[in-house]
Amino acid sequence: MVMVDLPILQFEEKIIETVEQNPVVVIIGETGSGKSTQLSQILHRRGYTKSGIIAVTQPRRVAAVSVSRRVAQELGVRLGEEVGYAIRFEDRTSERTLIKYLTDGVLLRESLSNPELNHYSVIILDEAHERSLNTDILLGLMKRLVKMRASNLKVLITSATLDGEKVSEFFSNCPVLTVPGKLYPVEILYSKERPTSYLEASLRAAIEIHVREPEGDILIFMTGQDDIEKLVSKLEDKVQTLEEGSCTDAIILPLHGSLPPEMQVRVFSPPPPNCRRFIVATNIAETSLTVDGVVYVIDSGYVKQRQYNPSAGMYSLDVVQISKVQANQRAGRAGRTRPGKCYRLYPSTVYRDEFLDVTIPEIQRSSLAGSVLYLKSLDLSDIDILKFDFLDPPSTESLEDALKQLYLIDAIDENGSITTIGRTMAELPLEPSLSRTLIEANSYGCLSQALTVAAMLSAETTLLPGRSKSGEKKRKRPVMALPDGSGWGDHIQLLQIYEQWDQNDYDIDWCRDHDLRVRGMMFVKDIRKQLCQIMNKTANIGSLDVQASERWRENQQDYKNLRKALCKGYANQLAERMIHHNGYRTLGFRPQLVQVHPSSVLTTDEEGMLPNYLVYHELISTSRSFMRNVCAVEMPWVMPILKKFETLNISKLSGGSAFRQERTEEKPSEISNSRVIAPADDPESRIQAARDRFLARKSKR
Ligand code: CDP
Ligand code: MG
Repeated sequence: MVMVDLPILQFEEKIIETVEQNPVVVIIGETGSGKSTQLSQILHRRGYTKSGIIAVTQPRRVAAVSVSRRVAQELGVRLGEEVGYAIRFEDRTSERTLIKYLTDGVLLRESLSNPELNHYSVIILDEAHERSLNTDILLGLMKRLVKMRASNLKVLITSATLDGEKVSEFFSNCPVLTVPGKLYPVEILYSKERPTSYLEASLRAAIEIHVREPEGDILIFMTGQDDIEKLVSKLEDKVQTLEEGSCTDAIILPLHGSLPPEMQVRVFSPPPPNCRRFIVATNIAETSLTVDGVVYVIDSGYVKQRQYNPSAGMYSLDVVQISKVQANQRAGRAGRTRPGKCYRLYPSTVYRDEFLDVTIPEIQRSSLAGSVLYLKSLDLSDIDILKFDFLDPPSTESLEDALKQLYLIDAIDENGSITTIGRTMAELPLEPSLSRTLIEANSYGCLSQALTVAAMLSAETTLLPGRSKSGEKKRKRPVMALPDGSGWGDHIQLLQIYEQWDQNDYDIDWCRDHDLRVRGMMFVKDIRKQLCQIMNKTANIGSLDVQASERWRENQQDYKNLRKALCKGYANQLAERMIHHNGYRTLGFRPQLVQVHPSSVLTTDEEGMLPNYLVYHELISTSRSFMRNVCAVEMPWVMPILKKFETLNISKLSGGSAFRQERTEEKPSEISNSRVIAPADDPESRIQAARDRFLARKSKR
């Protein structure tokens, strides 16, 4: 058992009293005040686990794991028994679990099979200030759920920042409890100007603190794994050059979401005496993880953010300026145990004039296909997706984008009703394109291969090692070449990699020889197994043919069935080669010029030609617009998809009668039927053009 003394514990009576009298309570408390670790324990002590489980959602996987581990420790129980966690592809709970930490995505999926979430007596939506996409959707669902289960469900929403009033209004002015944090003063030091390199500036600041300032750990905010690894390596080099005895010892620790668990734990274990820790972290250390002992914070002022542009169907991964709220959170980390200092690597004018007040919620910068599919499959008869009660509504454009995609992959029909295929898809913990591919692959007898591809794509970030210099130095043997996808593209390559590994009995050295991360490959194996089990359990799949792989491999060296299944799953991610242009034009609702990402294994044929049609896993815009992970497909598979564009009526897909009426006056179908006045990017004329090209090519043969 661990004794803790945290601010929130002094409010136990008040919290219990308020929760008893209200179905929904918002709790605001400074980061580190004990919301994530203590609230569940307070409610457990006061008997709320007698009638059900206490669920605590976390937007981040890492937080779910580390907080549950901490709570298990504090209660003196084994993790996975009374206290457990569930994240995608990993469930550490049991029959005995009373307090369950889970990602918001997992809770959302649980609500599919059990819309009333009857096994929970309390649902705590933690870290609501992060405004993750899934938490936002859950907020909307909770609003309905508390009405249905008014007598036996308590919902708590916690936030570290002061937007509690807004959430309270959303829940018909529910009470807001504020837990005053004990925060020591933090001196803010601004740079005179923006440094040319925030990495170098962070390095200088950190060493400066280490040499001149009294003891206390240093927390440095970087933007991502890449610059964290670079800075860690630079700090290591630099610290070694410091004169022995001139300052205390140093330990340098990275902290980010894709760090292996045993490395994550290291930041929570106390440092040896007379040793300063440098913790180099992403924004994960802003609010979701609290590291004790930090006295100095270095804030680059940047964060890496993935943004989705629905009209282009394109992602970009941008390093953007943080918001004022984020800057203040970061600074606050320095004042938890005693007065601290925050070094902002930007001038105060930048903070004042350039930073947004609050961070843009994820729901306004993500693809919503997966979320809309969930909402559709919940069978909320009165729901018009475009009018769902969101705390901050996403743009109509991105909701429509999601509906179109779902329609093209047969998840919803032309009236916007969810199909049998759509229901099955919603049960799979994959993005819609991949779940659709699996279902299609099953009907072609190549499910086994499709499962491999889906698993490989789901673990992709952990597969290839960072191409860092330190990695190359350590390498003794030359890297063996990976399979090449037989010219069909990256999905086929991913399949071949896994199959070769399988033929080598999942040998760890094989991974090393091929410069693949062992952990990543083991993860793929595990995901694949789980997907297999889920597919077997899932209703509506019909006859599952996982064993068909051998037969299939003998017959089809061109991977035709798998490519055909991918073509269906990626129906909204098609591209056609431009004859007089070095690139592709995407087909569908968003025609634009794109190129195959240079990292792709897709090759030209003997005549130097790239395939005429491709599907892509994602579009990503950096300096140019690239398709990442592509697979060659055939014209005859593309045609029926293009034909589907013709029958599309977005107001019907939304599934709301009010919306339908508003729109009928515009008569969108008539406009698109008239080819003469149709703009060049109108689907109708593109389909016609594609057909003409197809016929022209056919007649040439
Ligand atoms: O959620 P909130 O930010 O209010 O605080 P918390 O996560 O409950 O953290 C409260 C205390 O527990 C902090 O002092 C953390 O250092 C500690 N903690 C820990 O030692 N290990 C964890 N994995 C999580 C929290
Ligand atoms: Mg927390």
